[in-house]
Amino acid sequence: MYFIPPLLSALALFSLTLNGQDGPVLYQTYCSACHGTQGQGGAAEAVPPLANSLWAQGDPDRMIKIVLHGLMGPIEVVGKEYNLVMPPQGAVLKDGQLADILSHIRTFDNGGEEVTAGRVASVRKKYKDREAYWKADELLKDHPLPVKPGPIKNLVRKYYPLPKSKKSLPSFTELEANASESEATGLISLDGYSQGDHFAVVWEGMLKIKREGQFIFTLDSDDLSALYIDEKKVVEVAGLGGMGRAKTGKVTLHPGLAKIRVEYLEFTGFTGIAASWSGPGTKGVQALSATKVVSKRKPISKMVELKPVGKEAVHYRNFIAGTGNRSFSVGYPGGVNLVFNQENCGLELLWRGRFIDAGPRWNGRGTVRSFPLSGQVYHLQKGSPYPGHTFSFRGMELDDHEYPTFCYSLDGLRVRDRPQPAGRGMERTLTIESGGAGEVVFAPLYQPVPGLSLEGRGLTARQDGTFLLPLHKGDNSFTFHYGIQ
Ligand code: HEC
Repeated sequence: MYFIPPLLSALALFSLTLNGQDGPVLYQTYCSACHGTQGQGGAAEAVPPLANSLWAQGDPDRMIKIVLHGLMGPIEVVGKEYNLVMPPQGAVLKDGQLADILSHIRTFDNGGEEVTAGRVASVRKKYKDREAYWKADELLKDHPLPVKPGPIKNLVRKYYPLPKSKKSLPSFTELEANASESEATGLISLDGYSQGDHFAVVWEGMLKIKREGQFIFTLDSDDLSALYIDEKKVVEVAGLGGMGRAKTGKVTLHPGLAKIRVEYLEFTGFTGIAASWSGPGTKGVQALSATKVVSKRKPISKMVELKPVGKEAVHYRNFIAGTGNRSFSVGYPGGVNLVFNQENCGLELLWRGRFIDAGPRWNGRGTVRSFPLSGQVYHLQKGSPYPGHTFSFRGMELDDHEYPTFCYSLDGLRVRDRPQPAGRGMERTLTIESGGAGEVVFAPLYQPVPGLSLEGRGLTARQDGTFLLPLHKGDNSFTFHYGIQ
């Protein structure tokens, strides 16, 4: 988020209060420096437009609140994302003046309804103690944006129950719909039908084609669907499956009305349909459905393999699938690799072979995780290796070969935790500095790991797999060997 330059906010806050002037003049004084003389936006830095903005339409309280207390944080205006700060303007504007300004903004393609001084007064009173700027989300809860009707005219939706065996679109001419409704929203939607299984829906309506040219239709559905223009199939989502399988099709259309027909089949499980079109006169990609078409996930990008070079270990600090969010990964020469989690001071993963593919991969939630490049990864730790003790991560030391020693405190005692490759596995030395006698429970595995042996030199694992580390005054060293079979 960046802030509007101080000069402009000062200008907006401290301009003289004008009396007896009408909306257009007040608007030029208080708003145009940022939002542009015609509300076209972009006057200061990248300030959003007020013209044709849903934020300035419908319920006037939404914009009254914005002007009285300011606005900050992410907001979508006319299809673009912003993340800026608008300083409050309310202190210098009387209720009547503010009402005049907002009524003027309504004439920027925002429906034209007047905003009254009484309305401004009541919002001002209700929030007289508020100091915080509004956030877009917070405003939307009380004042949702007005819904613009979609582009499909005379839209009719028909519902057909289907036999359980049906897994492909039926021939609808032989079927009888058991419900038919006209949809004033002008958008394809499954509202009211999202729970059921084994049914089909058909939507029919008209699209206004303003200019001749090629149009692209995109369709996505859970499960199957097909889109027809003037009885010709343009695009189809075949086969049972979830959303995220969007397909596109092209068709050349002539000015006038084109008939659109969308057929949909739900087998079992989730439901969903999304469609959009673009072409001459559609102002970019326009939704044909209440659910937006989500662009496909980025394809898995090309592999970026990290490897240790010569005698030096290689490090990787980003997210690794299956580990905590503050993990530190080390690939040692000779092909032993590990992930240390700084959140719980635990050694989480251990594997032999190639280290990590650092090329970004997208998981189901859209976040980037990298993956160890080995089929056999041993998961050692979940939670803290020191149950019942408090600890905090302090940092890391690197030796000449870039081998890390992890430093943390454990009940106030200093611990140095150094792993290094040994044989087919790894040796881990804990050095605990203690002021006197005591003991610490160490749980290096959260459960027995098949294919992995663990020995504490001179120590015997207890029944539950944990080790009791006896401490005396001074440095206490314990070495554990993790053997990979
Ligand atoms: C100092 C610059 C500045 C001034 C002056 C200013 N605004 Fe804004 N305005 C912004 C910014 C920046 C945003 C977007 C804030 C965000 O990203 O959260 C915004 C957002 C808005 C929005 C909601 C989004 C939109 O564009 O529809 C409305 C409505 C609005 N302003 C009205 C006004 C009115 C009315 C005035 C005059 C009384 C005014 N603003 C004066 C900077 C300004």
